[in-house]
Amino acid sequence: MTDVENALPVASRADLRRSIASTQDAYIASIPKVELHIHIEGIISADLKWKFSQRNNQTILNPRTGQPFASLAELRDSHDTLKPRAGNRMDNTEETLSFFEAYYGGFEVLKTKEDYYELAMEYYEHADEMNVRYAEIFFDPQGHTRVGTSWETMMQGFREATWDAEQILNVKSKWIMCFLRDESPESAMRHYEAALPYRDVIVGVGLDSNEVGRPAELFEEVFVRARKDGFRITAHCDVGTPYPLDHIRQVACSIAGTGADRIDHGLNAAGDAELMALIKEKGLGMTICPWSYIRHQPMDKVFERIRALFDAGIVISIASDDPAFMEDTWVWENLLVVKKYCGFTNLEIQKLAENAIKMSWAKEEVKSHLLELLYGIEPGT
Ligand code: ADE
Ligand code: ZN
Repeated sequence: MTDVENALPVASRADLRRSIASTQDAYIASIPKVELHIHIEGIISADLKWKFSQRNNQTILNPRTGQPFASLAELRDSHDTLKPRAGNRMDNTEETLSFFEAYYGGFEVLKTKEDYYELAMEYYEHADEMNVRYAEIFFDPQGHTRVGTSWETMMQGFREATWDAEQILNVKSKWIMCFLRDESPESAMRHYEAALPYRDVIVGVGLDSNEVGRPAELFEEVFVRARKDGFRITAHCDVGTPYPLDHIRQVACSIAGTGADRIDHGLNAAGDAELMALIKEKGLGMTICPWSYIRHQPMDKVFERIRALFDAGIVISIASDDPAFMEDTWVWENLLVVKKYCGFTNLEIQKLAENAIKMSWAKEEVKSHLLELLYGIEPGT
């Protein structure tokens, strides 16, 4: 059996989510949290898609049949039965949608500045409830422009939500624009240039989407330029299913000249002592999204590897990825699941929270305030 076949099936993940989410954990609930790996488009649930499409008088087409989804129930069903991500984005041999089909479907329902504002506020309100006090949020500009949305529409909505979240909810944040690795490097560069007027809210650049045959080094030119201009650099690698370790190595050591400032995912570095030593020596932070991995890999392997990275002294932080496509699991559920299955003590949970604060790209005064809040809460045993 392959790793994907040994991964927890969807019904069991739903059960696991129910039992995890109802756990009482006063320590995790009380600590200030920093979220460093969430895709804003990854919070677009079937219900949100439906809401935006109704408001904009649109139908939502099922990419498999070309026919509109007839009801919210049908749309929900298509999300609930997502096929674990296989190599190809569009593999039409099965009836269920792949992750990327459902994910990119969400871009089509966002039409106005208000839609972007509301989408971001949806995240911030949820973040506030989980005591997330700072977030760096990914967005995929190419996915929006290719369905006809302008930068102004997108960024004005995000920018106003960023201000309001800070003022009204006390949730601070910055944005990370991700290049789609299955689009061309030229498209990445054009989008990079178009992002420059929004530097007040964009702190870094990243790389996501379908990794098959698309290592980070293909985007070298735009990474070099972004670093020269003062942006922070990160990139997804080894997403979900294991990819060649070389994808992680490039992110750690070579992109943008000397390697990224952070690594998104890269879980399978845990199987390679030399790579782990290198990541540790460089002090590179890794954003780790447990629920994302248990969809494709056996639970025991996933948690063993997370534990191995942590025990090796690598700076990992726990994050959520795409809650709407991962059984509605946010940073809260992800922290609870690692606590249970990696056997982390509260002191170790404190370390994970500290890592997230320290590896963030927040201003120094924001970081020291959050650290002070964190250290002010007694972890107990
Ligand atoms: N873009 C949004 N979510 C992603 C994921 N989980 N993997 C790769 N690209 C993504
Ligand atoms: Zn991601």
